[in-house]
Amino acid sequence: MNNIKKNILNDYDNQKEYMDRIKERNDVFFNKFGIRRKYMILTYGCQMNEHDSERMEGLLGNIGYETTSDLKEADLIIFNTCLVRENAELKVYGKLGELKQLKKDNPNLIIAVCGCMPQKEEVRDYITKKYRHVDLVFGTHNYYKLPEMIESKTQTNNRVVDVWEDGEDLIEGMPAKRKYGYKAFINIMKGCNNFCTYCIVPYTRGRERSRLPEDILGEIMKLAKEGCKEVTLLGQNVNSYGKSLESKVSFAQLLYMINDIEGIRRIRFMTSHPKDLSDELIDAMKNCKKVVEHLHLPFQSGSSRILKKMNRKYGKEQYLVLVEKIKKAIPDISLTTDIIVGFPGETDEDFEDTLDVVKKVGFDSAFTFLYSIRTGTPAAEMKDQIPDDIKHERFDKLLATINSISAKINQDMIGRTFEVLVENISKNDKSMLSGRTRSFKLVHFKGPKELIGKFANVKITKTKTWFLEGEMVQR
Ligand code: SAH
Ligand code: SF4
Ligand code: F3S
Repeated sequence: MNNIKKNILNDYDNQKEYMDRIKERNDVFFNKFGIRRKYMILTYGCQMNEHDSERMEGLLGNIGYETTSDLKEADLIIFNTCLVRENAELKVYGKLGELKQLKKDNPNLIIAVCGCMPQKEEVRDYITKKYRHVDLVFGTHNYYKLPEMIESKTQTNNRVVDVWEDGEDLIEGMPAKRKYGYKAFINIMKGCNNFCTYCIVPYTRGRERSRLPEDILGEIMKLAKEGCKEVTLLGQNVNSYGKSLESKVSFAQLLYMINDIEGIRRIRFMTSHPKDLSDELIDAMKNCKKVVEHLHLPFQSGSSRILKKMNRKYGKEQYLVLVEKIKKAIPDISLTTDIIVGFPGETDEDFEDTLDVVKKVGFDSAFTFLYSIRTGTPAAEMKDQIPDDIKHERFDKLLATINSISAKINQDMIGRTFEVLVENISKNDKSMLSGRTRSFKLVHFKGPKELIGKFANVKITKTKTWFLEGEMVQR
């Protein structure tokens, strides 16, 4: 089967018959051998992929599979891939190569590659030609058809390649196995219409489409009843939420509605595009008590000239004015960002503008990226690609500047008390718990593990490179 389709209506309901068949088979296996068939999903890239993986886990759990973290134990291995930078791509090729032997040892093992990489034709062709041991190849629009693809492979032993250029509908009603009970990702939209010239995402995720507010609210209400306290609303550009809906509900209006849901204590969202961040949204952030004091606002470059070449539709001054407006409305706001270094044609002066924005805004932290050529995007064709050594030099300088600013911001938190949602036992020191403040700072402190999933008040005592340390206090 080799299906490269365009704009297909999703038909999740049709999966039921395949799901029933697989479940029956897996239950027979379990009754015979006393163990469940196992799957492992390796997820690369952004929260969109994380959430799609949660959905595939939900599906697999419903049809009699169990999860494993040992590749050798798995009957089904899924790579949910990312194409945003070259290194994301290379990681997957390396790992796929390693699996050749595993497949030889266990011919019944099913290996799948899905997500953003197969959406690009050349990448898809490379995977199918070079890695003959890959059984299923599908994309970002049709992962809900996983049961049908597993069934097809099992019955015919033929490889399945099924990738759609775009998907018309958003799929509602799919199960999701969430990693945590107390916090959840909620997709509020899919796709992207912005076509920033460096970015592959609009080609791998299709056009922007918003979910209906009633579907989003229904999902969050259900989660709240089950004990969820924090939601993160996801979209490539959440600020343009609602534009594709007939009812034209804005993102700000959606925040007010979610703010009213009982049981939810924190609302996060990402990502915000500066060009669409409205005064109405700033007001909503200020007025909705549950919306946290954290905004991820990628600026990508401080140079208006480069921003124009990136097709970002704002300039340096506009970004700085926007930040001032946000800081004025929400003085405690923590700001984070994404920055690309070494976009084609970036001069020393352009880079100085980037450093200038970093210094003027004072970001709490930033994701910094070396520009990576993505074939098929306009920037890949631009002349004046920047040599690697210059890119690295600028990158190091940028990182040092950001680190010193965020160290200073963290230092100023010492002695203050913050509400922390406790998430885990600390990886480095098992006697410590870790959690996040509303401003998204990672805090470690001593406390009983029963606090996981609950809130604690923590007074900050120390700052480390990647986190803060504190002690629990009563307020
Ligand atoms: N929709 C989000 C995030 C998209 S991808 C947004 O617009 O902010 C996450 C980040 O990857 C981007 O913000 C950008 O900084 C970075 N990125 C995207 N394409 C890249 C490329 N070709 N090279 C380097 N970094 C890139
Ligand atoms: Fe990529 Fe730009 Fe869309 Fe973000 S807004 S996903 S950077 S094209
Ligand atoms: Fe990567 Fe796809 Fe997300 S390319 S960043 S996984 S949308």
